Amino acid sequence: MPRVVFTPSGLEIEVDPGTTVLAAARRLGVDLDSVCGGRGICGRCQVVPSTGVFAKWGIDALGNALSARGATEISYKGRRPLGSDHRLGCAALIERDAVIDVPAESQVHRQVVRKSVDLVDLVIDPLVSLAYVVVPAPVLGDEPSTAEAIISALKDQHGRIASAVSMRILPHIQPALANDARAATVALRTDDDGSGGDQVVAVWPGFVDTIYGVAVDIGSTTIAGHLCDLATGEVVASSGRMNPQIRFGEDLMSRVSYVMMNPGGERELTASVRTALNELVGELLTEAAVGRDRVLDMVLVGNPIMHHLVLGIDPTPLGMAPFTLATSDAVHCRATDLDVDLPNAATYLLPCIAGHVGADTAAAMLAEGPYRSLHMQLLVDVGTNAEIVLGSVTEQYAASSPTGPAFEGAQISCGQRATAGAIERVRINPVTLEPRVKVIGSDLWSDDPGFEASTAGLTISGVCGSGIIEVMAEMFLAGIIITDGTIDGAGAQRSPRVVEDGRTFSYVLYERGDIRLLITQADVRAIQLAKAALRAGIDLLVEHAGVTELTDIRLAGAFGSHIDPLYAMVLGLVPDCALDGVRSVGNAAGAGAVRALLSRQLRGEIETAARHVVKIETAIEPRFQELFVNAMAFPHATADTPHLAHLVTLPIRTEASGAAGRTGRRRKRDESGSAQHGSAQQGEQT
Ligand code: FES
Repeated sequence: MPRVVFTPSGLEIEVDPGTTVLAAARRLGVDLDSVCGGRGICGRCQVVPSTGVFAKWGIDALGNALSARGATEISYKGRRPLGSDHRLGCAALIERDAVIDVPAESQVHRQVVRKSVDLVDLVIDPLVSLAYVVVPAPVLGDEPSTAEAIISALKDQHGRIASAVSMRILPHIQPALANDARAATVALRTDDDGSGGDQVVAVWPGFVDTIYGVAVDIGSTTIAGHLCDLATGEVVASSGRMNPQIRFGEDLMSRVSYVMMNPGGERELTASVRTALNELVGELLTEAAVGRDRVLDMVLVGNPIMHHLVLGIDPTPLGMAPFTLATSDAVHCRATDLDVDLPNAATYLLPCIAGHVGADTAAAMLAEGPYRSLHMQLLVDVGTNAEIVLGSVTEQYAASSPTGPAFEGAQISCGQRATAGAIERVRINPVTLEPRVKVIGSDLWSDDPGFEASTAGLTISGVCGSGIIEVMAEMFLAGIIITDGTIDGAGAQRSPRVVEDGRTFSYVLYERGDIRLLITQADVRAIQLAKAALRAGIDLLVEHAGVTELTDIRLAGAFGSHIDPLYAMVLGLVPDCALDGVRSVGNAAGAGAVRALLSRQLRGEIETAARHVVKIETAIEPRFQELFVNAMAFPHATADTPHLAHLVTLPIRTEASGAAGRTGRRRKRDESGSAQHGSAQQGEQT
């Protein structure tokens, strides 16, 4: 009998000559996909026979181990083209000893690399899969029910054991089989709530080879979603929109106040977010030209208040101590329960971690994996609240810190959202104090020839979050701001850009026509308060974990993905660290939602991890206030910054002065006056 070895699993079996590769794989439990049940339609079962001498297994494979291509393979015209060295596993017969490779794209459970939404090393382990069945015509006097006939066809034709046909789709099974071939495609769901058994959860007439899932991150400001092919993990459409709840209040607490002040207000907020969710799903489906019935799964993540509101739960208890969640467990429901028009979609919400640390943080943890890391990883998602997770494979701590909306441009006199025309990059010459800026919508710096022309169509009317961080850090490095956050009046002697503004001073960042953008003392204070809240939260977790040095800091979220790590360190937003140890990871919550959509195993993993996180409540921690006060200084009042000192020359700490020339400082700049990255020259800090 021929012996066949499958790679990469290394599993082997002896089979009768003439056995199909698919049948041998099934007998062995090799992970080889098949939707059409071996009818040569789907192309999911493609394998690559290997040739050569395989001493390890004692097999000399000559290229004639499998039967020659027959009619099925020659006439195959499926969506996945059959490469010249590929064979359909359901059609190729084993004739002699063979070594057969199952490529990743033919495995049901696999790792793939996707670049969109930062999906590297995606694990695909789907909860729902398709099976094409041909159901025998009923015979009078001895017919099983149609549901029973489908279940037995699944067993005979796919070796799949289904425990039931979902009650929801019973009205559709007979119409689906009302074709000459009595053929239908069914979706089988492996239960993820522990109730056991596969269920038939959708049915379509004839052959269907693609089903989809939707992953949505419901943020307080924006709602962003991805439509994914559940079998390949491919993101086929992405879309985002503003959260319409903004009309009830910019930040979360004002929305909770709205509910407290307006009886029934929670129902308005729920209806508003559900409408937006339904519209977003509609946009995704239109973009990819996919029907609503083809979406079998939806995953939602969001902060605790969004999580509660989308589920129709009153969020009032989350607005006051002790910030009690209605549930911290993962939630299973149907999309239609949330008024989302996806008739076949089950819905899963990731677990929440604490009253201030929600399913979005759990998703970010899933994406970045502090609980899988061998070293301590600091994961920070900066929004109006900063969610902070510090952990490794052995222990994880989480906290939330009320940073307020300053980092997003609110509370800053010239702050604005990151839209065309917003200043996003700033450099200040430390000698002349002259600034250079870059705006969204132009690739040129303001001192480049052609800048005026390239921005002629843009209204430069404000500074977005990343620009605010840079201008504050550059003002500090140029000596315009001193360690305690005061705009030093001495700067007025050095440059007309430092101007008296009532009893304090301001810095003129940009002037054109009627537009004059100032960075005021109040702006600096707002950023100081926000960054001190963030940094104190981080320092609190660092103390709890007993960590002495961080080597892996990840900045998540829309804001985090645009911050230059160097400037984050100059301001002291994050602890001192080697620069290459600090990186932006984009929308980690969205990436985590996609991962949970595609993997049953990862859902279990994050549910376990979330239960083990130690929650630190900043509001009741006695150390928080002291850490907050120390974190008000730039970069920090007490923490050393040895790595930063290698990158820039920090100003000597000094007192504010009205007289020019008192702020002695040395700094190292490149020719254009911007902070140097990665230099080895030792800076100075006293
Ligand atoms: Fe569908 Fe082979 S199993 S083509």
